[in-house]
Amino acid sequence: MENVVQDPNSNRVRMRRASHSDAGVITEIRDSCWRAFYKDFLGESPVEDILKFRKEHPTKRDFEETLYLILELDGEPIAYASAGSLPDDPKGAFVKGIYVKPEHIGKGYGTLLLNALKDKFGKLKLKVLKDNKRAIRFYEDNGFKAVGEEKARIGGHLLDSLVMEWTNR
Ligand SMILES: CC(C)(COP(=O)(O)OP(=O)(O)OC[C@H]1O[C@@H](n2cnc3c(N)ncnc32)[C@H](O)[C@@H]1OP(=O)(O)O)[C@@H](O)C(=O)NCCC(=O)NCCS
Repeated sequence: MENVVQDPNSNRVRMRRASHSDAGVITEIRDSCWRAFYKDFLGESPVEDILKFRKEHPTKRDFEETLYLILELDGEPIAYASAGSLPDDPKGAFVKGIYVKPEHIGKGYGTLLLNALKDKFGKLKLKVLKDNKRAIRFYEDNGFKAVGEEKARIGGHLLDSLVMEWTNR
């Protein structure tokens, strides 16, 4: 089984900046994660409500304003990370999401994407659902600290998030 953390130079794995032509693949990876994992703590029907509420695919403008990184395994996109600007720190970034296809989680791909964002920006901030315990542990293991909490209503559902931050400064 491949493990890119132990073999970071694996030539099967390639990271690249995504463009608008990747919009469909990005939505597909995100939705597959929500359906595979988020249903366990949100329930199936709320997940479908939220996915319906969110716009179909990222737009051309989203790709101009947000950095999307795609990870390919043998040429097939299996994960992505997206990061936009951080209003209170122009050098930092707000991580909008990191999603690894369900069949590829736990093999180090999320860490690879996160490390690329850490290298590029020196400070990262993000919001993660409070019930998404495994993702919170992933961020904690990668040096993030909880700095606050937020509530948001999405698709008719009130969601509690943890605000987390990492900095190398
Ligand atoms: C969270 C996520 C991005 C981490 O990426 P990854 O490639 O699976 O993580 P890595 O292999 O680099 O690191 C492994 C760690 O991820 C964490 N993890 C998070 N969700 C996990 C899951 N469903 N299954 C296994 N490990 C998971 C664990 O803490 C694991 O550490 P452990 O092996 O000590 O238990 C990925 O699991 C994912 O896409 N999950 C679903 C979407 C999501 O919740 N995204 C984050 C919110 S934006």
